[in-house]
Amino acid sequence: MQKTEGGSPLNLNPEPHAASDRRRLRGGAPIQIGLLGCGTVGGGVLRLLAENAGYLAERAGVPLVVKRVVVRDLEKERVSALDRTLLTTRPEEVVDDPAIDLVVEVMGGDTPARALIERAIDRGKGVVTANKFLLAAHGPALLARAGARQVDLAFEGAVGGGIPIIRTLRDAFASDWVERVTAILNGTCNYILTQMRDTGASFDAALREAQALGYAEADPTLDVDGHDAAHKLIVLAMLAFGAQVDSDDVHTSGIRSIEEADHRYADRFGYTIKHLAIGRDLGSSLELRVHPTLIPKQSVLANVSGVLNAVLLEGRAVGPSLVYGRGAGDLPTAVSVVSDILDVARSIASGVAGMQGRGMSIKPRPVRPLAEIVSRYYLRFAVEDRPGVMGRLAGALGDAGVSIEQIVQQGPTQAGAAGDAAVDVVLITHDAREGLVRSALDAIAREHFLREPVRLFRIEGT
Ligand code: NAP
Ligand code: HSE
Repeated sequence: MQKTEGGSPLNLNPEPHAASDRRRLRGGAPIQIGLLGCGTVGGGVLRLLAENAGYLAERAGVPLVVKRVVVRDLEKERVSALDRTLLTTRPEEVVDDPAIDLVVEVMGGDTPARALIERAIDRGKGVVTANKFLLAAHGPALLARAGARQVDLAFEGAVGGGIPIIRTLRDAFASDWVERVTAILNGTCNYILTQMRDTGASFDAALREAQALGYAEADPTLDVDGHDAAHKLIVLAMLAFGAQVDSDDVHTSGIRSIEEADHRYADRFGYTIKHLAIGRDLGSSLELRVHPTLIPKQSVLANVSGVLNAVLLEGRAVGPSLVYGRGAGDLPTAVSVVSDILDVARSIASGVAGMQGRGMSIKPRPVRPLAEIVSRYYLRFAVEDRPGVMGRLAGALGDAGVSIEQIVQQGPTQAGAAGDAAVDVVLITHDAREGLVRSALDAIAREHFLREPVRLFRIEGT
């Protein structure tokens, strides 16, 4: 609480009648909540609602009460904050119950989550969701549906776990023009890459740990193949660039192709490898891509480790701004979800529901093809160690108009089929158009000295 100069407390609620007005509006009745799902996030939500009940009721103006909890398996062990008499396997007991004011969807996926959210909206209920998969595919339609019904659809938990990135873009930066978003958006990928780099853990072992810690999706291929970060980038592009884009428009690659050798070479060149989501507003089009990226070791995102996420925003007026914190897990995500519950409950209790999406303008915008982006590249070739190979590599790149900044050869890394050694040739290019780099790699792929597919990672200066 702020203090006045004399030391007495300053009332931050300047309308002394506001709380009693709210109580009159609803007759002081609690906000009744229906929870769809009680797994990692749902369990965290129940814990926070129970542990902070008094404080939350004070902030909402009325108590927040969980009336029903929908799951698949009634027998499964759950958090102790759950009153098991609330459990049901019938979601209609939440979405069709007129006494329920607010539906919290933390089950994930498309079916049945989407239909349940739509039904809850149609019945005039506020909705809170952490489902980025659904928002990436149907966010604009769901927001329009909520707007038409004058109810709120809130989704802070969908991107960046506990970090307040949705509010930052929707409210704090509403007055600016966001030109660029560079972000670490998947806690599982960042945890795996950090463990592989710092402890030498295998990919599989690090993924198992991330799953045990509650970071990974029910289907972890969504994490490690980059789709979860792409879904989150689409949600951010909706708010940052007012864009409705299709997931097919976002170039997406995951972290499976990164080998221990790539961490070593990246380090030698002064970089670290991060799984980045990058969005740029180029005016007539957008650049949207998700992929492993080499970034300088001293850059701010290079030092975001483990499950931490970070979003580096660049606003035309505000300049660079960083939001940083735990990007996955039960309680961090529950903080975002419960803050949304509080916001939506407060709006319902105050009789002003439907304000969350007001003034939001989202329309289809074209995305620049990957071949047209300009970047620097890390290229690793496993080649036969014989005279002329280095020259052929440099020649193919030069013929395509791609200039080399640095080059190293190291090996032998393995025994070749004929007993001859294979070596790694690793190079860093100057800025080049991706289409030109690809045409050089097509020419190199026809060479007999190449032992393995080329490893390509983009480099950002972030
Ligand atoms: P989870 O642990 O797998 O929990 C899902 C819950 O939903 C479970 O309780 C499950 O019931 C229930 N459920 C799923 N399908 C159902 C169906 N058809 N009918 C009834 N109940 C159903 O998943 P989670 O990690 O909590 O994630 C939930 C959502 O939050 C997802 O959209 C996810 O992407 C998002 N999210 C997760 C995190 C994170 O760190 N985990 C962070 C941000 C956002 P049973 O328990 O009976 O199986
Ligand atoms: N599976 C997601 C991650 C959860 O690892 O980031 C948070 O959205």
